[in-house]
This record gives sequence, structure tokens and C-alpha cells, in this order.
Amino acid sequence: MSKREQLDKLNIYWQENCTCDLKKTAKQAVFGDGNAESEIVFIGEAPGKKEDEGGKPFIGAAGKFLSEMLEGIGMKREDIYITNIVKYRPPDNRDPEPNEKEECNEWLIAELKIISPKLIVFLGRHSMLRFFPTEKISDVHGKLLIKSIPELGKKQAFLPLYHPAAALYNGGMRETLIKDFNKIPKALEKIN
Ligand code: URA
Repeated sequence: MSKREQLDKLNIYWQENCTCDLKKTAKQAVFGDGNAESEIVFIGEAPGKKEDEGGKPFIGAAGKFLSEMLEGIGMKREDIYITNIVKYRPPDNRDPEPNEKEECNEWLIAELKIISPKLIVFLGRHSMLRFFPTEKISDVHGKLLIKSIPELGKKQAFLPLYHPAAALYNGGMRETLIKDFNKIPKALEKIN
């Protein structure tokens, strides 16, 4: 079975079996999207209003900004795979609660195991905290981190970035995010 087929099967299973309370208020599950064969996986936080309506991750303003940054390094959305920690929109775009993140955790780990990317890019502190619970995004943004992740069964490379939605209208953070984002090709080269 191809990686795409495995992901499709996984999403059908978890859409049925996920017990997350957010399911009650969200319009639909927002599955990971993009190239299942990609070397890079981006992990965001949770779907927002646009994503809840459209059923795809990062299709609002933050997604547009992300696409622009990808273009800046010669890549397209179709080249990468992008997903969220939580697959259902939290009401009023509040932060996902720890138990909600926990409910979607097995789904995320299974996705990552199927794709087995060389590099995982965190979009914001929520996804970073899943793998680096004691780090601060302000300390580690733009730094290539390598860590053994028993659930993934391997040593994994990570690049933490500020969340594009947080940086969108904040001049200083926006500049930092673009600078950090531009480190992706070098990080991949280093890993390879
Ligand atoms: N922000 C996220 O973290 N994920 C999305 O899918 C959209 C906005």
C-alpha cells in the first residue's frame, strides 16, 4: 500500500474512533494534507474557522503566509505535508486543552510513522511542546534539534518556528519567522 493509501485508511479509522470532545462542535475533521512522500512535515496547532469550513489545514491567512514563505525557498504547498496536533477546531479558536491534544496524539504519531519525514517543522509552540515539553519557543526557534523519539522508533530532526498566525501582523516576529524559515534548505542538507 502506498503512503497516501495508508494515510487515507488511517484518517477513516480515526475519524470514526477519535473520542475528542471537539468533534461535537467542529464541522468536520481536518486531515493532514499534501505530499505523503515529502521529506518535510509541518505541524501546526489546530484548525481555525476557514479550515473547519474547508476541511483542509492552513487555508486561511496563516496558510497564505506559509505558502509565500515556501515560495521563498523554492517550494510549493504540494511539495510538503502539513498537519495539526489537533484535527478538530476548538470553539472560538481557543487553545486546545491538554486532554484534546492527548485524544489526537495517536492519530498524529501514526501519520508521522507512515510519512517518516527527515525533518519535522513545528509551526508554533503547541506542536513543539508535544516533543519538547520543557523548551521555550523563544529560546529554540530556528535551531535544528535532534532527539530520539521512541514512539517514532528513530532519531528525529526538528526545526521549531514561530506560528505564522502569531507572526503575520507582528513586524519583528514576522522578520524572525522568515529568517528561520529560510534555514529549512540548509537544515535538510545537513540531515542528508
Ligand atoms: N493554524 C493552525 O495551527 N492550523 C491550521 O490548520 C490553521 C491555522
